[in-house]
Amino acid sequence: MHDIVQDYYGRQLQHSDDLKTSACCDISQIPAWLKPLLSRIHPEVLSRYYGCGLVCPPLLEGCRVLDLGCGSGRDVYALAQLVGPTGEVVGVDMTDEQLAVAEKHRAYHAESFGFNNVRFLHGYIERLDELGLEPGSFDVIVSNCVVNLSPDKDAVLRGVQRLLKDGGEFYFSDVYADRRVPDAVRNDPVLYGECLGGALYWNDFLRLAHRQGFTDPRLVDDRPLAITDPELATRIGNLQFFSATYRLFKLDILETACEDYGQAVIYRGSIPDSADRFVLDKHHDIQTGKVFPVCGNTWYMLHGTRFAAHFDFIGDFSRHYGIFEGCGSALPFDGQSGTTSGACC
Ligand SMILES: C[S@@+](CC[C@H](N)C(=O)[O-])C[C@H]1O[C@@H](n2cnc3c(N)ncnc32)[C@H](O)[C@@H]1O
Repeated sequence: MHDIVQDYYGRQLQHSDDLKTSACCDISQIPAWLKPLLSRIHPEVLSRYYGCGLVCPPLLEGCRVLDLGCGSGRDVYALAQLVGPTGEVVGVDMTDEQLAVAEKHRAYHAESFGFNNVRFLHGYIERLDELGLEPGSFDVIVSNCVVNLSPDKDAVLRGVQRLLKDGGEFYFSDVYADRRVPDAVRNDPVLYGECLGGALYWNDFLRLAHRQGFTDPRLVDDRPLAITDPELATRIGNLQFFSATYRLFKLDILETACEDYGQAVIYRGSIPDSADRFVLDKHHDIQTGKVFPVCGNTWYMLHGTRFAAHFDFIGDFSRHYGIFEGCGSALPFDGQSGTTSGACC
């Protein structure tokens, strides 16, 4: 599988438009705050972007960030501006051609930003322990449309657990299926390269995350993928694919379900570019100044992470009121048609 993927991203694809799905999205839908950051990125780097979501969580200044499968570095160079001169971004990829583009423009970006805070490593995301990175040394790990391509996803999440600081998070976009992908689709090299064949059934992803110690994965955003090539669409049959962004906090204390301890938080409105609201995930859009009831896990995700200073916390864990209302387990994604291209990265 590594050879197929290296060939696809190193030799077959030259440009974002060469992809045969809507995974890599429409530039017009990029959020306003990201546009000035992208405008400082070299056009060749932008032209070889193959991501399927937005992997820039808030409050990154001074953070140490790792990008798994960084490709030609678009997200690395965007994140470099968000972490600033006191932070660092490390990109890892296994494909020489992709890394060569990323490296080629390092000096250009250092001059454009006024600081040089990125580095790129050649390696496999299943074998992060071979890269000489210190365990527990990253605040945030991101990845954009890569985990589906890995033949050993358990090893990837194990490596992420090892490298994250306590309270750090894995914030990543990837492709998921509404059911288990049959062998005929998985073994098709083009469908694999297009990030469809290796996609996990969403509930198997949740099991995988639990297995590797990420007890309460939070879905941030999702959209159905359209397969724009009619011949590929026929090969896929009834399968539906989604691009989704999850955040997985490294917090040993999280429970396997959202339990209600009668707690609440109040957002102070103090996170840059988030004066009116803080969106933790799809179900937690927390307005500034308003008492917002939370389960025990959400309380920990805000109290035990870099977000703590931006919240007031109400309650403790002294009394349990049962399961938190609305803690469900049905298909978590919106829109099942697979024919629209929704919100973008
Ligand atoms: C779909 S592209 C996404 C690239 C980049 N994240 C972006 O948004 O443009 C997938 C990238 O992941 C890299 N990749 C796939 N599997 C990998 C693995 N097991 N180890 C390291 N890199 C991998 C490929 O070389 C390719 O550059």
